[in-house]
Order: sequence, then structure tokens, then C-alpha cells
Amino acid sequence: MKICFVSSESDPFVKTGGLADVSGSLPAALEKSGCEVALFVPFYDLIDSGKFAIKPVISIRNINVKIGNKEVLFSLYTAKLPGTRVDVYFIDCPGYFHRKKVYTNDADEDERFILFQNAVLVSLMQLNLAPDIIHCNDWQTALIPAYLKKNFNNDFFRNTVSIFSIHNIAYQGLFDKSSYFKTNLPADDFQPMGHYELYDKFCFVKAGISFAEIVTTVSPTYAEEIRTDEFGCGLEGVLESRKNDLYGIINGINDRLWNPSLDKLIFKNYTFKTFGEKIKNKKELLKNSKLEFSENTPLLGIVSRFAWQKGFELFEPIMEKLAEKNLQIIALGEGEKKYEDYFRNISDKYPGKVKTFVEYNNELAHKITAASDIFLMPSKYEPCGLNQMYSLQYGTVPVVRKTGGLADTVKDIEEYPDEGNGFTFSGFDSKQFYSAIERALTCFKDKSLWMKIVKQGMKEDFSWNSSASKYIEIYQKALSKLIF
Ligand code: ADP
Ligand code: GLC
Repeated sequence: MKICFVSSESDPFVKTGGLADVSGSLPAALEKSGCEVALFVPFYDLIDSGKFAIKPVISIRNINVKIGNKEVLFSLYTAKLPGTRVDVYFIDCPGYFHRKKVYTNDADEDERFILFQNAVLVSLMQLNLAPDIIHCNDWQTALIPAYLKKNFNNDFFRNTVSIFSIHNIAYQGLFDKSSYFKTNLPADDFQPMGHYELYDKFCFVKAGISFAEIVTTVSPTYAEEIRTDEFGCGLEGVLESRKNDLYGIINGINDRLWNPSLDKLIFKNYTFKTFGEKIKNKKELLKNSKLEFSENTPLLGIVSRFAWQKGFELFEPIMEKLAEKNLQIIALGEGEKKYEDYFRNISDKYPGKVKTFVEYNNELAHKITAASDIFLMPSKYEPCGLNQMYSLQYGTVPVVRKTGGLADTVKDIEEYPDEGNGFTFSGFDSKQFYSAIERALTCFKDKSLWMKIVKQGMKEDFSWNSSASKYIEIYQKALSKLIF
């Protein structure tokens, strides 16, 4: 099967969050399962072309794409996804992608990704690479299913179907309706309550949901949640209308990069058998963070985008009480200023207890995951979440709110005495969060119970094998919808 995977970010080239982890590892897993995969991403100036030996595709230079009436040129570059045979194609358009940022609030944010999507389809034709499947991810790629049906419904793509994967329904690609005319999709198709309109605006994601042969999201629970008013962000109706074509597939993790026995970024590698070595990671990290080390003081880790979604409001009412306990917290994150300030403030207020790193730092993310005893993820909503899975693999016991992918991957030891791997709470409520942390702190003192929980987490199989084969089944289902 020939797959074209399209994403606005992909690890190791460029990353802001979990979408990059998925776009860097699912294509590789598909290739390992026998698919032929080409991955398309924008050629941002943040991408290090020397490091990845990115080269121009000589035949595809200065190709014209129309954005409304404006003519914009793009060129194509290519490299291999490191360690795989997957071809990666980079859409080069310096005017749009040389902004020192992946996402912007610039007035032409819509144009950047309208160009990207058109350029992907034009490149496939120029490369004579007719895929069976175009797998689109999030709003930056959500118009492709519509383009395939409307503007590119030609002989070349006659056997091509599209899949649209929702990684986060809150990011919808919502623009003023005048933006629709920049797409050059049929002008009359923009109608109130139609495939493109939401809240009197133009919504990229609605088009993806409406036109893709199959819609997926990144966990079974989130697939249910987004069909409700609470989580659907206005798209619950259109998702309900596609419920027979909506699937939730939990993400896998890259078990070469996120594996405590192989991880090159941590101080000391370990497995469950050599679990005693894990503590060396805690010792070193605490030393580097200028916090005192004590074996019996549990270290609570946080690695996150600092965004509303992640539920950090829950800390404020309980922080003082937490600080009275025998524990330490190390938080790594960046994003919204109010959360950055909040974590900076609690570091200042409780200097021996809390340390905050306001930055994006992949190496530190690995070090915190390996060093911590407990990992905190009280998300308001979480489509899948990768950090709780990383923690489980590193024997770092997660405390999470039971939502989306967190509900699908973390089982509370009280509820599941034989297979529990962490601690969960249901309501978006500080008291519940506090009592889940308290339960974790109490269990931490009971070493044999603690090691049982650790073991259940470390033995979970989160490799991509099973999720990749579920995607292949979905691709086959989508292909069976082709009408000859
Ligand atoms: P989301 O995509 O919503 O941010 P995920 O849990 O799916 O959440 O994925 C987040 C990814 O980004 C993980 O790989 C995590 O380690 C990484 N990450 C988040 N914040 C930081 C940070 N400040 N520094 C380094 N890595 C980070
Ligand atoms: C989004 C979600 C996160 C998910 C990631 C990868 O960023 O917020 O929960 O793990 O996409 O699918």
C-alpha cells in the first residue's frame, strides 16, 4: 500500500508537541509493516538542512500555486526519515515558512497552510507518486480531503482516498469566511451549516471531517468524548453524522527513543531488573537542579506544553498543602505566560521543593521522566497524551485525570489491583487531584506495592506495532469505499 502522510510537524526535524512524535514514528512503523510511505512537512527555517542532509528535488522548482488570485511559488526538498527508508518531502516557500516559528498568529496563517496542502497534491503529481491513501493530520492538512473531491478529482488521484486524524479538536483552523476564497475550492460550496462553515467562519477541520473517507482520533475515549457538547468544540454534530466512519486508535511511542534501557539522554540506563539504577538519574538531576537528594523524598515530575488543556489550574488551591508534604517537584514547560509565571512563582516561594524550567528542552524532558518517582498530568482534556506512556515505560508512576487517552492508558491501582499502573481521578477538581497525589505518596512508602505498580507500567506494550496494524485496517476500509 502506498501512503502519503501529511503533517505540519515531525520529529526529529521540527516539533512543538505530540503531533511531531506521531508523525516521526507512525510513518516508520507503517513502512516496517510493508507500506511504502512518503511524508510531507513544510520546510520551516527551524529545520536544520545540514544535519538531515536535505537536498533539493531538481525537477520541482518554482512551481506556481494560486492562493485566491495571488500566485505563490514553491520548491520541493527531500531527505530520509533518520533510521528508516521513509522519504520525507519538504515544501519550501520561504515567504510563508521562514518565520522562526511553526505556528503564528500572523494575518496569513491560513495562506501558509493552503499553500502547503496544494503544494503536497501538486508535488505528488509531479513526482508521479499516486498514493492509495493520503493520511492528513490536524487542521493544517484538513482541506486535502476536500481538494481531492473538488479540485483534484482527476485521473491521477482516481484510486486515492483520504484519512483525517484529529489530534486535538480545539485547534480547528477557524478563519474569517473571506479566507475560503483563498482556497479556490468551488465558490458556491461555502454555505451556512455546510461542510466548511462553523460559527459564521471558515473551518478547515469541518472540511476534513466532512470529506475524508475515514476520520480517526488518537484514543478510543477521545473518539467518544468529541461527539459530546463538552469536548466537541462545536463539531460534535458533524462528528455524530460521521460516527460510523469515526475510529479511535491510541498512539504508540517510539521505543528506540523513549526506552530507559537505550535512552542516550539520561544519566543511567535501567530496566525493571536493574531498577535500582534509576535512582542515579534522580540524584544527578536533583544535583543539577540545586535541590537536595533524599531517597525517601518522592520526586514529582511535570513535562508539558503550558496550555489551558493541561489542567494546571488545579495546582493553585492545593499548592500550599502540597508544599508541606515530604516531596519535591520539577516542572519543565513553556507556552502561555500565565502558567509560566505561576510555575516560576511557586519555585520562588518554595525554593527547596519546587524547581521550574521554562523552556523547550528535549534532553531535560528525558532526564525528568527517568529521574521522577511520580509524573503529574491533570489534563482538562487529553486526546491521547504521550508523556504518561513515556512515564509508565520509565517506571515513573503517573497521576492523571481520567480523560481521553489518559483514561485509556492509566489504570488506578485501587480500581485494578492486579493490573493497576498508576493513580487516576475523575472530576476536574483540585480536591480530587490532591487525594490522588496523596494516595500515590502513601503507596510510595510501601515499597513492595510500589514496585508492583512500577512493574505493571514498565511491562505495558506501547510500541507502534499494534496501532500501526489498526491504521492499516482502517486504510483498507477506506479503500473499500472507492466507487469504481
Ligand atoms: P501535546 O501534544 O498536547 O503537547 P503529548 O503528551 O502528546 O501532548 O506530547 C507532548 C510531547 O512534547 C512529548 O514528547 C513531550 O515530551 C514534549 N514536550 C512538551 N513540552 C516540552 C518541553 N517544554 N520540553 C521538551 N519537550 C516537551
Ligand atoms: C495532540 C494532543 C495530545 C496527543 C498528540 C499526538 O497534541 O494534545 O494528547 O498525544 O496530539 O496525537
